[in-house]
Amino acid sequence: MVRVRVPCTTANMGPGFDVIGAALSLYNETEFEEIDKGVVILEEGRPKVDESPHKNLLYTSYADTLKLCGRPVRGVRITGRERGIPISRGLGSSAACIVAGILAANRVMKDPLSLDEVIEIATRMEGHPDNVVPALVGGMAVSVSEHGRVLYAKVPLPESLAFVAIIPSFRLSTKKARKVLPRAHSRADCVHNIGRAALLVASMASGDLSKLRPATGDRLHQPYRLRLIPGAQQILSTARELGSIAEYVSGAGPTLMALVEGHDKAAGFASNLNAALSGRPGGWKAIHLRPDLQGARVLDV
Ligand code: HSE
Repeated sequence: MVRVRVPCTTANMGPGFDVIGAALSLYNETEFEEIDKGVVILEEGRPKVDESPHKNLLYTSYADTLKLCGRPVRGVRITGRERGIPISRGLGSSAACIVAGILAANRVMKDPLSLDEVIEIATRMEGHPDNVVPALVGGMAVSVSEHGRVLYAKVPLPESLAFVAIIPSFRLSTKKARKVLPRAHSRADCVHNIGRAALLVASMASGDLSKLRPATGDRLHQPYRLRLIPGAQQILSTARELGSIAEYVSGAGPTLMALVEGHDKAAGFASNLNAALSGRPGGWKAIHLRPDLQGARVLDV
């Protein structure tokens, strides 16, 4: 049996649409066990009956990876052990399922796929690399597609930088949140984002966090997506008032991310923010997360 633990991811980080992402300390842990035939998916000890396995990303990514490698697909029992990453909230839950399925299939086959090949397959399945790459390699990463290959570079994150995820109880599908985006942007908007994406990477790499607020500015996706997230603008203002140094829409939303300097400060910030959010519509909860520097782990159990 194979157990795979995958961190959540915060993609885009403001200006880095489909390119920049970081792995954080919320996890899904899933076990995969080959059985003679059939597909059994267990969540919280009970069979998952509300969807066909052929629509379940854990199963499809597992089975498609075996098929891609020419391995017959026998039966599999997939057991959810930890489900820390909330679904459709902008924290990379689909990427975590895809990564888990591919890594489990690879281990079942005795690891014939290299990390680069796993990244290629995961990116193809997800459609963009900014969640799957940090989920696999940990930390913050910049990922681009070049002649059909995915190239990435890791960016060091300052130790003092804390992420506070502000997560609502409602979901927003990535499909819907991509549909509202314009198909083309003005040169001024592209220049705006190129500068900020570069400033974000330079700030992280140098540890100079003084320009993080402008560095997380964006004109490519956040203005359009904020309209889909009721209450977001007020929550961003509250976070600023309570001392965050930058804020952005995590991935496609609806989670909002606040950056805070210092982990002790972040714990107090999250609890003050929770007090301010209590009673507001949307069921928002703030949680203090740390960067996950390791990425997905595979264990034989
Ligand atoms: N880069 C993606 C987007 C992340 O913004 O749509 C969400 O999966």
